[in-house]
Amino acid sequence: MTEKPTFYITTPIYYPSDNPHIGHAYTTVAADTMTRYKKMRGYDAYFLTGTDEHGQKIQRRAVAAGVEPQEFVDKISENFKKLWELLHIDYDDFIRTTDDRHIKYVQDLFQKIYDKGDIYKSTYEGWYCTPDEAFFTERQVGEEHICPDCGRPVERMQEESYFFKMSKYADRWLEFIEANPDFIRPESRRNEMVNFVKQGLEDLCISRTTFNWGIPVPFDGKHVVYVWFDALSNYISALANTGDGSLYNKFWPADVHLVGKDIIRFHTIIWPIMLMAAELPLPKCVLGHGWVLIDNDKMSKSKGNVVNPFVLCERYGVDAIRYFLMREMPYGQDCNYNEHNLALRINVDLANDYGNLLSRSTGMIDKFQGSIVLAPGEPTEFDAELIELAKATPARFAELMDKMEWANAIAELWKLVAKANKYIDDAAPWALNKAGEKGKLASVLYNMVEVVRLTTIMISPVMPTLAEKVWKQLGITDRTDLHTWESLTWGSFPADTKIDRGEPLFPRIDIAAMEAAAAEEAAAIDAAAAAEEAAAEEESQLEPLSTDMIGIEDFAKLDLRVVEVLECEKVPKADKLLKFRLNMGLEERTVLSGIAMHYAPEELVGKHLVLIANLAPRKIRGIESQGMLLSALVGETLQVVEVPGMTPGARIG
Ligand code: ME8
Ligand code: MG
Repeated sequence: MTEKPTFYITTPIYYPSDNPHIGHAYTTVAADTMTRYKKMRGYDAYFLTGTDEHGQKIQRRAVAAGVEPQEFVDKISENFKKLWELLHIDYDDFIRTTDDRHIKYVQDLFQKIYDKGDIYKSTYEGWYCTPDEAFFTERQVGEEHICPDCGRPVERMQEESYFFKMSKYADRWLEFIEANPDFIRPESRRNEMVNFVKQGLEDLCISRTTFNWGIPVPFDGKHVVYVWFDALSNYISALANTGDGSLYNKFWPADVHLVGKDIIRFHTIIWPIMLMAAELPLPKCVLGHGWVLIDNDKMSKSKGNVVNPFVLCERYGVDAIRYFLMREMPYGQDCNYNEHNLALRINVDLANDYGNLLSRSTGMIDKFQGSIVLAPGEPTEFDAELIELAKATPARFAELMDKMEWANAIAELWKLVAKANKYIDDAAPWALNKAGEKGKLASVLYNMVEVVRLTTIMISPVMPTLAEKVWKQLGITDRTDLHTWESLTWGSFPADTKIDRGEPLFPRIDIAAMEAAAAEEAAAIDAAAAAEEAAAEEESQLEPLSTDMIGIEDFAKLDLRVVEVLECEKVPKADKLLKFRLNMGLEERTVLSGIAMHYAPEELVGKHLVLIANLAPRKIRGIESQGMLLSALVGETLQVVEVPGMTPGARIG
């Protein structure tokens, strides 16, 4: 047997300092799509993702949350895994930098570079951006002391540190880039990096002493390894410690590190130079993609525009979200997310173009040919052009996918879908049926189905649950030989197949109604909950504390109870509202809460929360809400107050 070619792809390992958002989903869905595509093309593909769990930022977040850093990262790392499961991310390994295998690898690497003489001890004096975990010089932060990458304030740092002799490698790096022009993609990013290095490289501080949440320097326990030296090593540590080295031998060097443009500098300068110093092969490519913007603005917690992908998937379906992400961001540029764009994409590309092609095909085969796909008969004058495009599309699609230009690849594929819909209008099978042109009718219906099959194969890496549903409708579930890349040859669809017409796969979203409902609901919630919101608003400032004292008898008026969430569901046509069925020990209650933007309903089932049980009932959207769940604004996300393990019905006071 000949060995399969290999393909090793990675995502950044994300900071579990906050829960995953739509930006993390973007990179991970892209890596998953590429992996599925390469597997379909016969590659032995390996896909690594994970979490980057050390460093000052994480330690501070843990302290603020009042838990140990390990406990803190365990929880959020788990949330990343949950999201990847929901999004059908089929990774081969999930590395955590707190894994023993990783810690050992980083220490060995540090030691190796030290033994070689490329690490030395000195004193660092300069500036540090903790959210980015990055060092900057006086010149870079300017008079205002602002991080040049993210614009947040930097902190002054002065400590004894180990330094990595990056400067020594600047020329070698420039030569490498010259010889490997495709190492940094897109080209615009390569030019930025080359200009950066041409201005001269400084040695890099690679250890810290002022906190301890990190990997100890092997020969000097006072120091922990700088979190980027630690994190970048994951791409090899995940392969290295399999005992026999077989994964490393098979997959290193990586074919592509997929990253956002925020961290391209770390991946294209620091990481290759670390590898040069360690005398290890360099990855083949670092691809830096653009930003998912929210209403044309950078996503950030302080702006309160962070999009929760759990909620989006629940509302629109995983395949549609994956499709949107892969289609919307042009290669080398940013894309803009808002619910309107998303709904538009779903309606135009999925409901209209692709969905209609499928439902028109199956509908007419049902109606005109008793649900049987017949062998093509006499051709129509429109066939040749369609078939020519269908035959040419796989190669064009593959060329763009191989260059990792997935949005362009999908656009190319959708030209075929559009052509097929136009073909139906031109060939007018209903007229052929009426005129008794059975041969031509059979040709048209056959060609329609064959385009659906080819398109579905090619788009399946983007929408992994779609194909099965389509094969069922086309009656070829068991014909797995017709689901493969190799079967993209025109005319393979078996004649005399009985189809099994189903529901439309992508129902149209009524955008006008969606927006009207959102507006109406916002108004309803505002009116009903104005007082609560004002109170929450005040809390969100975290200061000042109230000086308006109350007596214990005021507090005693509140009947606060532990409740257990039995059921939780969205209120139809109300984007912000969740409806709860709560166990209060002796009774059950229905309560509405305006937190649907912050939680997917299934996240809340089984949780123990706090209810103001004697708040006068009020009606929202025709449903009586019997009490109010306590929640707090943390940053800009609303979080319910949880009391895990407490007995439902217990009175709090
Ligand atoms: O930087 N649009 O982790 P991180 C597109 N731990 N992609 C986005 C995005 C957005 N709005 N926001 C985030 C770190 N991303 C380090 C990485 S790797 C050795 C260490 C994606 O949690 C994008 O891939 O800040 C970006 O590079 C990454 O998340 C940053 O994730
Ligand atoms: Mg970041």
